[in-house]
Amino acid sequence: MSPFLDPNREFFNKWEMYKLLFRHSIKNIQIPDTQLFSKESLSSMLIEYPLLYIKPIASWGGKDISTIQQNDNSFVWTIQGREAVVTHDFNKIYHQIDQFYQEKSTIIQRGIPTVRFNDHVFDIRSHLYKEMDGSWVYAGDLVRIGGTGSIVSNVEISNGSVRPTDEVISMIFPDQNQPFSTETLKNVSLEICHMLDQYHYFTEVGLDFGLDHRGNLWIIEVNTDDTEGRPDPYLFSLLPDQGSFEKIIHQKAKIYEKWMSNVMDSFEAYLAEKGNEPD
Ligand SMILES: Nc1ncnc2c1ncn2[C@@H]1O[C@H](COP(=O)(O)OP(=O)(O)O)[C@@H](O)[C@H]1O
Ligand SMILES: [Mg+2]
Repeated sequence: MSPFLDPNREFFNKWEMYKLLFRHSIKNIQIPDTQLFSKESLSSMLIEYPLLYIKPIASWGGKDISTIQQNDNSFVWTIQGREAVVTHDFNKIYHQIDQFYQEKSTIIQRGIPTVRFNDHVFDIRSHLYKEMDGSWVYAGDLVRIGGTGSIVSNVEISNGSVRPTDEVISMIFPDQNQPFSTETLKNVSLEICHMLDQYHYFTEVGLDFGLDHRGNLWIIEVNTDDTEGRPDPYLFSLLPDQGSFEKIIHQKAKIYEKWMSNVMDSFEAYLAEKGNEPD
């Protein structure tokens, strides 16, 4: 069955994207168990996993994301940027969560057993764009580090920061004895873009990955260009090396130029047909 492409935004929401990734079983990445939010899924996933992330399927920027965990007999529910709610009563916490997300479709996802960086959450963002011949180019990657106490690594909402991937990885794994390599990150990112090509013509993709203690990559989210925006290239302008940022910006300018020249060609052809060639 074809995945549901939102007709207005022309994107795959988080739930559709999860199903696609699951169906295509991409090599060398783990996919965190994900279900639609309901009383039953919340109850069963709380038994199965020590930490859960709850996310609306169409939000971005770390907005309205929360975590829940069960400690002994209490449930600790934390909305990004707010005080945690603690209660012993499952029904009560379920209703509070349900109330908070209201009519928004929402998923529950296993909290990835990520390693932290100086006690902050972080993720790895890779960015790819499509050349005019349809091939994908890997523009680069970086690490987004969430601000103090944040449950998300989105820079703006958490007052976080950006660092070069190599720098962070070499500090976390100084002995090099782990499977993470930039090559794997690149290959996995490209494989996901090629998989997406089977379903829709996207031109820009930004992937969010979590990293566990053994150096394994977990996919958190696949961001694509859509009618409302695109994966944020400006994150790359915050790196000391501007190479990736310049690549992305230059590519956009090239596509715009090509588009303008196509428009001009069509216009001139139209005028010529009318016997009214411009000078
Ligand atoms: N399952 C998860 N396990 C661990 N961290 C997560 C998980 N889901 C989200 N996060 C954290 O929250 C951030 C935002 O989640 P994401 O699904 O990318 O939503 P958004 O569209 O708001 O960026 C991620 O970059 C990561 O830091
Ligand atoms: Mg994200």
